[in-house]
Amino acid sequence: MSLAIALHVLSVVVWVGGMFFAHQALRPAAVEVLEPPLRLPLWVATFKRFFPWVWLAISLILISGYWMIFKFGGFGNLPLYIHIMNGLGLLMMAIYLHVFFAPYKRLKKAVSAENWPEGGKQLAKIRMMVGINTILGLLTIAIATGGRYLIH
Ligand code: HEM
Repeated sequence: MSLAIALHVLSVVVWVGGMFFAHQALRPAAVEVLEPPLRLPLWVATFKRFFPWVWLAISLILISGYWMIFKFGGFGNLPLYIHIMNGLGLLMMAIYLHVFFAPYKRLKKAVSAENWPEGGKQLAKIRMMVGINTILGLLTIAIATGGRYLIH
């Protein structure tokens, strides 16, 4: 149990903290400093390094989360905040899967073809979805940690 909760929260820190940094710090800085022919390849190189960590984080969040629920005796007698965390977590994962298999795939293709307008379009979609996932991630953390004191 202690290992499960530690891996769960560490994975959440890597995923949500990484999204926060990318969206709130690196994105505006890259827009300010770099033109599209440099900015778009930078994002492909960044995602190439960050997304494997997200796959690992998601796997660990799911394994540790359902392991803890199994140890609590199943879904039947869980407090509401864990159901909400589960639902929001699955929604975040669906959004990530969409980013990975749709706009990210097209962004890579556009960048290797040096098609900057198309790359910019795909990057804008990723930015919007990562923005939504950052908010959902912060909200999920707030509910996961504060929820037990508010709703039972
Ligand atoms: C998607 C499936 C998920 C499942 C099944 C799940 C399940 C759980 C369970 C059973 C706990 C232990 C609760 C307790 O000890 O009372 C927990 C803790 C926690 N979860 Fe999740 N979780 C999921 C996703 C997420 C996501 C996506 C986040 C954040 C973005 C998150 C953040 C947390 C945090 C911060 C804690 C620690 C709460 C505390 O001990 O104060 N979880 N989770």
